[in-house]
Amino acid sequence: MRSLPSPADDFEAWRDRARDLLRAGTPPDHATWDAAAGDLFALPVPEQGGAAVDTHQPRVALAFMQVAQSVFLHSDPERFSLLYRLLWRLQGQPRLMEDQADPDVRRAERLAQQVRRDIHKMRAFLRFRAVEEPDGSERYVAWFEPDHHILRANAGFFVRRFTTMRWSILTPLGSLHWDGETLQEGPPAQAADAPAGDPTEDLWRGYYASIFNPARLKVGAMLKEMPRRYWKNMPEAALIPQLIATAQAREARMVAQGSPEMGERPDTLREIAELVQACRRCPIGCNGTQAVAGEGPDRAGLMIVGEQPGDVEEQAGRPFVGPAGQVLRTHLDEAGIDLPRAYLTNAVKHFKFTPTGKRRLHQSPTAGEIDTCRWWLEGERVLVRPRVILALGASAARGLLGRTVSVQKERGRPHVLEDGAELWITTHPSYLLRLTDEARATEERRFAEDLRAVAGRVRVQAA
Ligand code: URA
Repeated sequence: MRSLPSPADDFEAWRDRARDLLRAGTPPDHATWDAAAGDLFALPVPEQGGAAVDTHQPRVALAFMQVAQSVFLHSDPERFSLLYRLLWRLQGQPRLMEDQADPDVRRAERLAQQVRRDIHKMRAFLRFRAVEEPDGSERYVAWFEPDHHILRANAGFFVRRFTTMRWSILTPLGSLHWDGETLQEGPPAQAADAPAGDPTEDLWRGYYASIFNPARLKVGAMLKEMPRRYWKNMPEAALIPQLIATAQAREARMVAQGSPEMGERPDTLREIAELVQACRRCPIGCNGTQAVAGEGPDRAGLMIVGEQPGDVEEQAGRPFVGPAGQVLRTHLDEAGIDLPRAYLTNAVKHFKFTPTGKRRLHQSPTAGEIDTCRWWLEGERVLVRPRVILALGASAARGLLGRTVSVQKERGRPHVLEDGAELWITTHPSYLLRLTDEARATEERRFAEDLRAVAGRVRVQAA
């Protein structure tokens, strides 16, 4: 892969320079970060007369790294010095990142959030247009103007989502080109380099008009989520004024026909809990057992997602009240997570089992069953609006990401979801129950560590 022309998103290079500066004892007001982008991190390290703090073994808290990687992508020219100042101060104040009253910490959190939003907006509002290549094949080209240096950070998402297409994403900061196998990075582009429209836009507009639900129209919320400046590149946006203008009449027609549109999401958690009882969209629902919806406050900063109710949960109609629930509750308590303030639910709402004699033996849901049940989980998520989500095990992770991932590879770091919420993945507590001795002790320690990281993020997001 060739490099983007600017190292503005090269976090490793910044980190190396920051380490050199720290080791040389260079205080923040002597560190320079304002050279031309090309040699930004290759500046000489100024000599200092001795370190104010012990910087030979720089301390880098996990909480700092998590925030720093996002802040680093911000377009604010002060971001490098802000991060270095935090790093410098962390050497003497290891718990600095927990201090929400600290102006540097607050600023870093704000910048990180703006970057995460920009990443989400690019995923949600970028629109490809088909162009014919000289050899007659088709390529999809999109123009997008990110606010921050997020192009490379989003490359993996677009490769995974549009793996079989040939596409190019053009931005004023650089471009990406995917040919179905390799990703190439290219120079900055201009809006005029991208095509203005194509015949698929009629199809897209038709689709948007058909799924637009006038009864759900909240203009203020829509504008907040889909700011006008993105409209010019979105074919469906041309319809919005007309759809808004006719929304009242369409809503009246729907009411008169007494037919709420298919796929309409419930408005409340109570409605979800009632309607899911009748769900028969997958074979588990046909078991005819009681469905178990989530429980917790209507709005919660943290959502915890398990796999599916077990035998005990299905009988009680409540999530995590059996043996795995006991393990979970103990660990949450130790990590300082206040369960009554969180929303607790499962990726799959019915219990899947095979009857063996008197017992009902747990069976894992298939990927298809998890994907089908995702509709309910998404419904809960839209209403509860958690900023942090903890997925327990691979089924929960699939329910949230829509694809299968390795828990061991993905645990211990945040994954930004399309609405900007942070997803943290860890093992399922029933896995711990299956282990013994040293293996159990080791995994319990790792589980506890994951929960502590989540607890920290919940505190930060709530501040
Ligand atoms: N395991 C889960 O994943 N969820 C429950 O509710 C109980 C056990």
